[in-house]
Amino acid sequence: MSRIPVHIDVDTGTDDAIALLCALMSEDKIDILSFSAVAGNAPLDCTTKNTLDIADMMGNKAPVAIGAAEPLIRDLRVAISHGKTGLGNVVIPSATRPFSELSAYDQIYESACKADGELIYLGTGPQTNLALALKVHPDLKDKIKRVVLMGGSLIGGNTTQTSEFNAYVDPEAMKIVMRSGIPTTMVGLDVTLQTELPVWVIEELRKLDNKYAKLAVQVMDFMLIRNKEYGFDVANIHDALAFCAIVYPEVIKTKKYFIDVATAEEMVRGMTVADFRDVITDKEPNVDCAEEVDVQGFWNWMVDLFKSKEA
Ligand code: RIB
Ligand code: CA
Repeated sequence: MSRIPVHIDVDTGTDDAIALLCALMSEDKIDILSFSAVAGNAPLDCTTKNTLDIADMMGNKAPVAIGAAEPLIRDLRVAISHGKTGLGNVVIPSATRPFSELSAYDQIYESACKADGELIYLGTGPQTNLALALKVHPDLKDKIKRVVLMGGSLIGGNTTQTSEFNAYVDPEAMKIVMRSGIPTTMVGLDVTLQTELPVWVIEELRKLDNKYAKLAVQVMDFMLIRNKEYGFDVANIHDALAFCAIVYPEVIKTKKYFIDVATAEEMVRGMTVADFRDVITDKEPNVDCAEEVDVQGFWNWMVDLFKSKEA
């Protein structure tokens, strides 16, 4: 079976790092054409460095493009739970290769052209890079087969009462992407808050001796410690579930809604509003929204993936 061509856009951060590791362990199923990084969990210099360092450490040579340092029109707001560097207290070797010569918006376009209409775009941060790519290259919307996002929520938020972090940081970008017409899957808080990292998963990974598992355990340990400092007993690997939905789509159940993103009122900025009651009659449902997740299936998939890299 031919491999799925993907572009991965991240704001590497801790849970982005786990998603990257899962993708880097899945190259029998996916062909990573390129990466891009965006400011979000940490400033751009951190998220780009973290992404390149992880790819390089795992031997992947796909180009890593530097993306947007700020949202389209808002001031950047970084997350505090990923530490100053975005990877907490985890230190990894610096990459020996340079970043892509292309900007993120040109890198996305180049990979979409290369994939000849088959590209799957995974976005796990604020969607500034893809929004810019759609503006600079208007024909891009016809060249991406599907956008899979960790972002948004049907109900509730984690940054404000109504809004999820990636949508909150750059609501205008999320709006552009969700209304682009590209088939889109939203893996939002409705499912990612159900996948709280169980102790048995870390303990299974701690038994392993491969470089992927060793880095994942360091990151997960930091996430649990840091979340405890903020009064949470759990850590959510939001982004890895979005990646999982690409290679193991049955892990989630989706329903298509018309989704719009609140950008006008500051109080609800970044709220991804689903038209549950078909009130908006002049717009077709545009986003496949994850409503259910096979939690056990997700964790079994992740543990098996890390075990598959044992010598
Ligand atoms: O709301 C969770 C999302 O925001 C995750 O992608 C996390 O990495 C942050 O980017
Ligand atoms: Ca992220």
